[in-house]
Formats: sequence, structure tokens, C-alpha cells
Amino acid sequence: VERTLSIIKPDATKRNLTGKIVAKFEDAGLRVVASKRIHLTQAQAGKFYAVHSERPFFGELTEFMASGPVVVQVLEGEGAIAKNREVMGATNPADAAAGTIRAEFAESVGENSVHGSDSPEAAAEEIAFFFSGLELVG
Ligand code: GTP
Ligand code: MG
Repeated sequence: VERTLSIIKPDATKRNLTGKIVAKFEDAGLRVVASKRIHLTQAQAGKFYAVHSERPFFGELTEFMASGPVVVQVLEGEGAIAKNREVMGATNPADAAAGTIRAEFAESVGENSVHGSDSPEAAAEEIAFFFSGLELVG
């Protein structure tokens, strides 16, 4: 089975939405096999989102990701990467399909409640960024 890296972002932890978001993952058939609540520094957020370092919103993005606690999780399931992206909805909540996490909870294109890996390569890299093998319990 496939694994993907999820982050419940500061806008969502601030509004106490962690449980509601995890319920969406579980309802879609995804299983949480690792989970921790952490508070990133802006430098750590920058390292995680390094692929976006040339984008105009990079400063805003890393400042936001370091603005409060996040919940990082590894989700496991059949086609977990695509399934998670589907449950998350489009980056901009205005474009997100009804019933998706971003349609229901996201506040803006920047403060959009969740992150999800977008490819098998990214998933492997992002899982290793936050977790050791010992912490993945299927
Ligand atoms: P992630 O799962 O977080 O990677 O989202 P995504 O794959 O749907 O979007 P993308 O990788 O293109 O962008 C990464 C993140 O940067 C988004 O989730 C947003 O939080 C943020 N972002 C993207 N576009 C904008 C923008 O125009 N303004 C701001 N402030 N943030 C943006
Ligand atoms: Mg992305």
C-alpha cells in the first residue's frame, strides 16, 4: 500500500479542527500510521517548502507555516497520494469541490488548512523529513 505525508496547517490547528480533518481522511479509507504535533521554525518551513523558494509567496508561506502548531501525519491506503489530494480539494478554497477539506475549512489560498504530497518521490522525501522508520506504525 501507498503512504503520503499530510500536514494540518496552523490555520486549522488554531481553530481546533484537527479531529474533523482526520475524520475526513479516515472516511476516505486513509489510515493514520504516524502523527505528531510540532511548531516549525520559519527556517524549517523553508527547508520543507524549498521547491517553492523562487515563488513570490514563499515568505508569506513560510511565515504562515511557522505561525502556530501543525500536525504532521503519514497516511496509508490504496492510492493514498491521489486519494489524499482528492479529499483535500483544490489549493484555492474558492475552486475546491464541495465536501473537500479545503471547501469546508480553508480560509484562503495561503491559509488552506492542509498539505499533501503530490507524487511518490515527494511523499518519500517528505515522510523522511519528519519521521524515522521506527515512528511508522501500520
Ligand atoms: P500543498 O499541499 O500545501 O503543497 O498545496 P498544493 O500542492 O495544493 O499547492 P502548491 O504546492 O502549489 O502551493 C503550496 C502552498 O503554498 C499552498 O498550499 C498554499 O498554502 C501556498 N500558496 C500557493 N499559492 C499561493 C498564493 O498565491 N499566495 C499565498 N500566500 N500562498 C500560496
Ligand atoms: Mg504542493
